[in-house]
Amino acid sequence: MAGTMKPLLTDLVSAVSSVPPNFIRPEFDRPNLHDVISDHSIPVVDLQHLEGPNRSGVVKAIGRACQNYGFFQVKNHGVPNEVIDKMMHVSKEFFHLPESERLKNYSDDPMKTTRLSTSFNVRTENVSSWRDYLRLHCYPLEDYVDEWPTNPPSFREDTAEYCKNTRRLALTLLEAISESLGLEKDYMNSALGKHAQHMAINYYPPCPEPELTLGLPGHADPNAITILLQDDVPGLQVLKDGKWIAVNPIPYTFIVNIGDQIQVLSNDRYKSVLHRAVVNCKAERISIPTFYCPSPDAMIRAAPLMTDPVQHPSIYRNFTYSEYYEKFWKRGLNAETCLDMFKI
Ligand code: OGA
Ligand code: NI
Repeated sequence: MAGTMKPLLTDLVSAVSSVPPNFIRPEFDRPNLHDVISDHSIPVVDLQHLEGPNRSGVVKAIGRACQNYGFFQVKNHGVPNEVIDKMMHVSKEFFHLPESERLKNYSDDPMKTTRLSTSFNVRTENVSSWRDYLRLHCYPLEDYVDEWPTNPPSFREDTAEYCKNTRRLALTLLEAISESLGLEKDYMNSALGKHAQHMAINYYPPCPEPELTLGLPGHADPNAITILLQDDVPGLQVLKDGKWIAVNPIPYTFIVNIGDQIQVLSNDRYKSVLHRAVVNCKAERISIPTFYCPSPDAMIRAAPLMTDPVQHPSIYRNFTYSEYYEKFWKRGLNAETCLDMFKI
């Protein structure tokens, strides 16, 4: 590659037949794909009966999944298949655009609200990850939509429609999660201030030596909840009892996980669990996480009902989400979660 400056992985892979040295992880931190559990997955929750006489049963199922896995999948979630298909399709089109067209959106500044980048944070990391990604802020929509790519031509329309739908689902899930903790239905909703919503479109090109690198190393998400859409290529893995579990794609199902902010609000009743993305040598993979979050000014602290001075004192100090978010991007993706920096 000497002499060629390819900021994006997508434009570098066609020229390589082995993994470049800066992508090779130290031996203890490689995917070890033979050790991954593939015959057990995270629970699937059917949201169909969330409104109606069986609500408490669904809420309990969500609570159990949050407690035992920090992850679950949802079906009958109310997001139309057509909205999902369009989002996935326009994402693929975006990453197949010519390099010069994609690079119009490039930035390595994590504080920019719309940007295409690569790996995780190229300004701070030592080892690169096998991923390009487009990151967008998307709530309130009208504040950000004018920054978004205009190519492919339907990008803004398809993505805005998808964002409205995933926001509705996020609000529904926040209510159920609040109830599952014994809190008022709108507790989480109020705790997130004016709310914010970000999304990423992750693009993982095929990799000649998938055992040497990772699409995303193990990390916990810094936001409140994540709603992930993945295409039909497996890659997501979730840590449970010290073992990685593969989350194999189920069409039109979302994967939901608890982020760091719900861990704090619940005072560690629910955990923000480590997960990672592995790559493969055959197929490109796209995943689209919606990161539902507090607004930057929201003050985050454990819910009073989740604390008592003797048995459950607050585990974390108070902080604003903007403070948390900046620390998250500065320190990089480490197995020790960002939360440790906020412990009392
Ligand atoms: C993320 C993430 C998993 C995946 O973007 O935070 O965990 O399957 N992605 O791409
Ligand atoms: Ni994640």
